[in-house]
Amino acid sequence: MVNEGCTFRADVLVHGDRIERVATEGIGNARGAKEIIATRHHLLPGAIDDQVHFREPGLTHKEDIAHGSAAAAAGGITTFMEMPNTKPQTLTQELLEKKYKLGAMSSVVNFSFYMGVANDNLDEVLRTDTRTVCGLKAFLGSSTGNMLVDDPLTLDQLFRQAHMLLAIHAEDEGTIRENMRMAVARWGEDIPVEEHPCIRSAEACYLSSSHAVALAKEHGTRLHVLHISTAEELALFAPGPLIGKRITAEACVHHLWFTDADYHTRGTLIKWNPAVKSNADREAIRQGVKEGRIDVVATDHAPHTLEEKAMPYGRCPSGGPLVQHALPAMLELARQGVFTLEQVVEKMCHAPARLFNISDRGFIREGHKADLVLVDLDAPWTVTRDGLWSKCGWSPFEGQRFHSRVLRTWVNGRLAYADGKVDTGVRGERVRFER
Ligand code: DOR
Repeated sequence: MVNEGCTFRADVLVHGDRIERVATEGIGNARGAKEIIATRHHLLPGAIDDQVHFREPGLTHKEDIAHGSAAAAAGGITTFMEMPNTKPQTLTQELLEKKYKLGAMSSVVNFSFYMGVANDNLDEVLRTDTRTVCGLKAFLGSSTGNMLVDDPLTLDQLFRQAHMLLAIHAEDEGTIRENMRMAVARWGEDIPVEEHPCIRSAEACYLSSSHAVALAKEHGTRLHVLHISTAEELALFAPGPLIGKRITAEACVHHLWFTDADYHTRGTLIKWNPAVKSNADREAIRQGVKEGRIDVVATDHAPHTLEEKAMPYGRCPSGGPLVQHALPAMLELARQGVFTLEQVVEKMCHAPARLFNISDRGFIREGHKADLVLVDLDAPWTVTRDGLWSKCGWSPFEGQRFHSRVLRTWVNGRLAYADGKVDTGVRGERVRFER
């Protein structure tokens, strides 16, 4: 078992949807229990992904909750938090509750949905229930769906009045537009994808995230800055444990894995916002994760169809599917010595539970929900298209060899994934927050 900073031998007894006992000296009398012998395998808490785009409603040609959550289960992710840039965008309480109904109907894993912020919906935003909704989400840089919040007065009021966690996408729109103008002047219609990190530049990231951090400090906002992609931004965040922090940060697997050298081979399949940047940026983000400047590791799973991704740079949307391979990729980085196993579990399981005040998930503890994942750390396999669960049907990791494999995933005590198959009849729960 890998849990709470240690790796050790233990037995776990699950009863119903909860963990009843965790014992290092044998479980004792558990009559009628079905026994699973997992010698040489590792049991982890199910991962909690605080940033996915499952595209429902309205963009279900790219992804939907059924497929996205199945891919999550196959990847050892037992809880997701989903973004509001759907169609329609999640900008009213009514639309938000409709999404929760969709989640209850079709999600294999546990779910929460962010309330979206626009230039003109602060009244609705402030009505969001802190105990049943993960957070508020504002795009301070435009991306898929054009949900830009760029009115300075709105931003000021939002940071002043936000009554719960505010998650942001931070890229400065003016800088991006100017860089784009220069790229078009130079390349016309044929902008190479290698220009992406110059257009959505490190400067654009820093300008926006530093402005948001300054606003949060001024108003005492509970700010969570998503997908940090540059070395410069790390200085904005305090190192060390999460306890007491009002300003937190997330890194995504693609920024920890890829660098700008990969555009050459992967092309627009690794076009994300914010852009994958230099090796120095990747090294700094990895260091930030270890030092605690980055509190959680997530995916920003954001599928588009292959036809959309095959379009020329200027028209190709940013984003790609990741939930199925995030944990294997992080376990690969652990194998390479970049992180320890315990750090992977800390950043993908424990810390998201703490950061969002989820009191009964994210740890293997007696009384907690039985969200568990069993992995084999020594079972090499190669990512191929036929094993993918995401509706978009491709992966930026195709051809990648991983050494770790997810064997089984339990969601609230129910086996949701085993031996390559998702039980699509399993349903996750709406996550509750102790706030
Ligand atoms: O690359 C991205 N794609 N970044 C985002 O912030 C949005 C996402 C999407 O929804 O496609």
